[in-house]
Amino acid sequence: MTTVTQEAGAPFGAAPPSGDTGEGAAIRTRGLTKRFKGGQVAVDALDLTVPRGSVFGFLGPNGSGKTTTIRMLLGLVAPTEGEYSVLGLPQARALPKVGALVEGPAFYPYLSGTANLMRFDAADPTAHRGTAKRRIADALDRVGLAAAAGKRYRNYSLGMRQRLAIAAALLGPRELLVLDEPTNGLDPQGTREVRTLVKEIAAEGTTVFVSSHLLAEVEQMCTHAAIMRTGRLVAQGTIASLSGGLTARIRVETPGPDDAARVLAGLGLADVRAEGREVTAELGGHAPEQVNAALVGEGVAVRGLAVVRPSLEDVFVGLTGEGFDVDG
Ligand SMILES: Nc1ncnc2c1ncn2[C@@H]1O[C@H](COP(=O)(O)OP(=O)(O)OP(=O)(O)O)[C@@H](O)[C@H]1O
Ligand SMILES: [Mg+2]
Repeated sequence: MTTVTQEAGAPFGAAPPSGDTGEGAAIRTRGLTKRFKGGQVAVDALDLTVPRGSVFGFLGPNGSGKTTTIRMLLGLVAPTEGEYSVLGLPQARALPKVGALVEGPAFYPYLSGTANLMRFDAADPTAHRGTAKRRIADALDRVGLAAAAGKRYRNYSLGMRQRLAIAAALLGPRELLVLDEPTNGLDPQGTREVRTLVKEIAAEGTTVFVSSHLLAEVEQMCTHAAIMRTGRLVAQGTIASLSGGLTARIRVETPGPDDAARVLAGLGLADVRAEGREVTAELGGHAPEQVNAALVGEGVAVRGLAVVRPSLEDVFVGLTGEGFDVDG
């Protein structure tokens, strides 16, 4: 068990990995549901497929069920219904190959980073004692804490604490790394470093399942994503396929918007809109340089020209009709 968490691990999930799920996938869930006492459905019939080798962004606003899903996958809370499979293996065999960071890592404030990881590693029955020192030094080095390894945890900044939690998840060779909001509380520099770290880990062949409520972050870091909304899956797929549902638009800045709009419509571009000195239209299959040449050819003064690709945020708003906000 390699999960960093504040609570003791609950018994393994009620839904055992079944033989027909998880083939080839790092994580697979079918109808996975968690209903808390009092009736709140935190996760509602989730069908998730996380391909091996992917950096999979698990996106959703606060309260959408990300942490609950992750806790079920790690056997920390029992599902109400449904099934799941991690690395296509029975849970006891899968978990040693999984490094995890779940909300609220618990470390001893009066111990150093190194001493904390020593304790943490000692609690893992699958970890090899003889290599502990080297593995710990390596993990601290990977997350950029080598210089602060001897410092007491209570004197660590928020970012340093988050890094230590990631280091704890990296103490052994992992096939799957599950990170619940790893950039929470980090400054922009720390966030960039975590992004880089995730990419490095993925480049070594580890599948990374990372939750976030930041669309832009997932867009920059992930190959795939799933979008959650109040416990339900709204969409999943490669980042390109998710954004591909919406078409890119071209934006022209010009003192002659009416002429520009006429040229764009003449080229066959759809949904031409003029607003002030800006004209936009769906680019469709047109090359932006051809559009530019046509505009210039027709005597339109082009001051600026840009292709605006849809972001995951646009996809999310398109799917739900709402902004990316807190779920109640
Ligand atoms: N132990 C619990 N008992 C009752 N309700 C819970 C419990 N844990 C979570 N919930 C509820 O389940 C829903 C999903 O919570 P969860 O923590 O999974 O969301 P999240 O997507 O991780 O949110 P965040 O981005 O804020 O971390 C929320 O409405 C939450 O209040
Ligand atoms: Mg959460």
